[in-house]
Amino acid sequence: MENQTPLYDQIQEALRYIRTQTDFTPRYGIVLGTGLSGLADEIEAVAEIPYGNIPHFPTSTVKGHKGKLVFGRLAGQPVVAMAGRFHYYEGYSAKQITFPVRVMKFLGIELLILSNAAGSANQHIMAGDIVFLRDHINLQPDNPLRGPNDERLGPRFPDMLHTYDRRLNAKGLEIAQKQGIRAHEGVYLALQGPNLETPAEYNFFHIAGADLVGMSTVPEVLVARHMGLGVMAMSVATNKCYPLEEIRETTHDDVIAVAQSAEPKMRKIVMELLAFLG
Ligand code: HPA
Repeated sequence: MENQTPLYDQIQEALRYIRTQTDFTPRYGIVLGTGLSGLADEIEAVAEIPYGNIPHFPTSTVKGHKGKLVFGRLAGQPVVAMAGRFHYYEGYSAKQITFPVRVMKFLGIELLILSNAAGSANQHIMAGDIVFLRDHINLQPDNPLRGPNDERLGPRFPDMLHTYDRRLNAKGLEIAQKQGIRAHEGVYLALQGPNLETPAEYNFFHIAGADLVGMSTVPEVLVARHMGLGVMAMSVATNKCYPLEEIRETTHDDVIAVAQSAEPKMRKIVMELLAFLG
């Protein structure tokens, strides 16, 4: 059942609780994806708050997801990181998944940086490559902005033309090149999961313009843009889905293993980006 307290009031309740734990004001919000939570260990933390303690926060059910907000400095910059994110396939509504992003906005962030593990639907994107999102295609069946709109949070019909910060992508590509890291810009297509896709589906999504397919990120991005936050998102490609003869059987453990082995690359890029932003 959806909570009957108005969303705005739920956010304020979460905020009030967090403010009893820390008065730290983050400038950057970070969402860490499957197998990519290692970056949280680099934060010089001033506070860590388990999701379970925060009013109206969902709690994570997927293994490999820690489930806490980490406040502190990363590359000298004030950040709050979600170590562990929520997915639609876990059974939450899109509104529940994105609640932490609403709260991060009210904590003071200006930019949301997201990461995820995704399948590659582009023959040039190999497993282990980093891809900065330049656009998305949303095929998830729920939208976090559905229902009555609260103008205090954002407009009824948010525009999506400049959703991803291409200037930051360019910087990310430059950093990657200097570090000898294979990186690209691409289009992310979001599905509900939890099954991976059939070869015919991967082919269809490739033809539709997808470079990556995944089960996350887009709900958070929609809410971030609704509230006027800047967005930068990046994927680790964990498995090849195109061309069809390169598709292999893939388990969740395979996805986690490839994401974890690529995590240091993503860590380097995010830290250098933050240093650049500061
Ligand atoms: N499909 C959907 N989501 C994914 C995949 C995939 O092939 N790989 C990692 N996340």
